[in-house]
Amino acid sequence: DYYAVIMAGGIGSRFWPVSRAGFPKQFHDMLGTGQTLLQKTFSRLNAIIPSENIVILTNDRYLDITLEQLPEINQSQVILEPAMRNTAPCILMAALKIKKQNPNAVMLVAPSDHWIEDEAAFANDVEVCFTAAQNNDMLVTLGIQPTFPNTGYGYIENEKNSTSEIKKVKQFREKPNYETAKQFIAEGNFVWNAGIFIWSVKSITASFETYMPTMTALFEEGNSVFNTSEEKEFIDKQYGLAENISIDYGILEKANNVFVKKATFDWNDLGTWGALHDKLEKDEDNNATVRATTHLVDASDNMIYTASEKLVVIDGITDYIVVDTDDVLLLFPKKKEQKIKELLTEISHKF
Ligand code: GDD
Ligand code: MG
Repeated sequence: DYYAVIMAGGIGSRFWPVSRAGFPKQFHDMLGTGQTLLQKTFSRLNAIIPSENIVILTNDRYLDITLEQLPEINQSQVILEPAMRNTAPCILMAALKIKKQNPNAVMLVAPSDHWIEDEAAFANDVEVCFTAAQNNDMLVTLGIQPTFPNTGYGYIENEKNSTSEIKKVKQFREKPNYETAKQFIAEGNFVWNAGIFIWSVKSITASFETYMPTMTALFEEGNSVFNTSEEKEFIDKQYGLAENISIDYGILEKANNVFVKKATFDWNDLGTWGALHDKLEKDEDNNATVRATTHLVDASDNMIYTASEKLVVIDGITDYIVVDTDDVLLLFPKKKEQKIKELLTEISHKF
């Protein structure tokens, strides 16, 4: 049986002031389509996986928002974390819980905040990976054709002469430095890790046992309480003790049964306002707008976002992020978008 696990516990700080710790970007309609990123992710997966087999991993504080946005699911399908520990602990916990329910399950793990345009192509790729992971001891990743030496992604080297649809991975390198990333791209047989994984619960829990025995021991104790009323108490007790580490560093860089399927869909991890600008439709002066009605004079390359419908009038602004929410107005050069995270620390006492 096929399952999906959606990770929705991040805080998306580079999308401030829309994304806040109390209400992060995955719960916002960032694309102005009428659906939040979480809802879009859910429906994309629900096209291939029954809703009762979809699990949401998120922080305690987002339970209400999650249930409100996904009325299709039951509270028992939401795994609540008392603290942020990156992706390895939550994936292990979900795998153990699903394995207890169904030892032959194959699960897909996906972030809640990505942009994927072609849902049919996505569904096809995922089907191919599910079939492979069901019949083999494989950790399957989805690879994206890289376009520049982005140091925020994982890089996957596949075997050069392989013609198979799912290729054996020679090397997985999480977030290399700029020089290394440049070299990888020049080699030609590297792809970006999309952060979407497919594996059987048997394979992934076996990898955790091998490469992360301490974390495995911590959560395996829960086998007697998973899917019972005592589960939450157990998680609250153990979760804070887990190492803060991503699945990429913890497992994928080390395992020797990692495979990659090149994605046939367009993908963007919507990490920043600039990435959102890239993906949206633009006017003739390359301005992208979410929700607002605009009157623009001598304005180009701007990312304009209003939390509610509003008229935005601009004269003489180029390459800016213009964001209007109930309590914050942000005008910030798009080129400096990575600084928004730092800016937050500086001004945190003001809001
Ligand atoms: N439930 C839960 N709990 N989710 C979490 C937690 C947590 O403690 N920490 C992070 N997440 C969620 C984030 O919300 C996001 O959806 C996903 O897990 C991945 O975390 P990121 O923090 O966004 O990872 P990254 O962007 O640095 O790197 C990963 O994604 C890249 C592609 O976007 C890696 O897998 C890279 O290899 C990959 O290229
Ligand atoms: Mg990310």
